[in-house]
Amino acid sequence: MRGIGICLIAQLITREYRTQGFSSVSPRLCGKNLYVFCVLFRACYRYNVCCIDKVLVKELMSERIALITGAGSGIGRAAAHALWHAGYSLTLAGRRESKLRETVAQAAVDESRALIMPTDVSDPAAVSRLFAASQARFGRLDLLFNNAGMGAPALPLEDLTVAKWQQVVAVNLSGAFYCTQEAFKLMKTQQPSGGRIINNGSISAQTPRPHSAPYTATKHALTGLTKSTALDGRAHNIACGQIDIGNAGTDMTERMQQGILQANGTLAVEPTMDVRHVADAVVYMANLPLNANVLFMTVMASGMPYVGRG
Ligand SMILES: NC(=O)c1ccc[n+]([C@@H]2O[C@H](COP(=O)([O-])OP(=O)(O)OC[C@H]3O[C@@H](n4cnc5c(N)ncnc54)[C@H](OP(=O)(O)O)[C@@H]3O)[C@@H](O)[C@H]2O)c1
Repeated sequence: MRGIGICLIAQLITREYRTQGFSSVSPRLCGKNLYVFCVLFRACYRYNVCCIDKVLVKELMSERIALITGAGSGIGRAAAHALWHAGYSLTLAGRRESKLRETVAQAAVDESRALIMPTDVSDPAAVSRLFAASQARFGRLDLLFNNAGMGAPALPLEDLTVAKWQQVVAVNLSGAFYCTQEAFKLMKTQQPSGGRIINNGSISAQTPRPHSAPYTATKHALTGLTKSTALDGRAHNIACGQIDIGNAGTDMTERMQQGILQANGTLAVEPTMDVRHVADAVVYMANLPLNANVLFMTVMASGMPYVGRG
């Protein structure tokens, strides 16, 4: 009798997973609930109740691994906290080790679920080392969040140094590409194979601000990388999507408070939104089953001048 009862509950949960995707189930899988959930499934295994899809059970119970670049601040940090909360273990990359450590400390997460890897994503050799270390620690990779990025000073493009142009391209575009290459190698060969890549684009992947040529060009290029990755990934069960953010409150958008140059030459203070809305969106995209994908999602402060003519 006890076995049948447990099995029925488990079946309800797995049916919800099948129809709604992982994200609808995962919010309930925290703390005590996660424990109860696992106990139920383990009990079902012990009772050898065959009516549960064992493959699905394995998928739900297995640890999921994500790697985030730029995880020491802003969106990367908020996404790390949200993904830990959703049950992932994480490799955190960024140049400043102290900031990565802060991300872990603020989450008060068990150290076994975090690997800190100081990495400059514009250095392909460093990126190879990053992925090798992540694999050695966790054994697989389910999610890459290509988040590391930088802007350039808002100058007329003819005044921008070649070095600055090259730096922005190296971080925003080449860095994302190097990470994508390494993720592909891992995701193709691991068992079960496949995974997901989320690229952090921007509203600037859609339309520019004045004096933003390197940032806008690299973010537009990321859109091409996202589409190519989504297409080439199909053969290997690798999904790829892009999140285009507008004015999440981070270090990068702090200058919004002083007013930011508009297309008509005026300065305007623009609204911002809480960064956790971005983190929630990343978790939603990450938790879809691999046969479903958000190719592009725009998350922005509702009142931004970007929409319409202001
Ligand atoms: N905030 C927004 O509203 C907004 C809007 C559109 C797009 N985005 C995008 O969101 C991403 C994160 O931005 P954010 O707002 O969170 O700003 P942020 O706090 O400045 O984050 C940028 C992160 O990238 C890392 N990074 C920079 N260069 C790197 C490199 N060479 N190698 C490794 N990591 C590097 C930085 O860490 P280290 O300095 O320690 O390396 C930092 O953690 C960026 O791609 C940005 O373009 C943000």
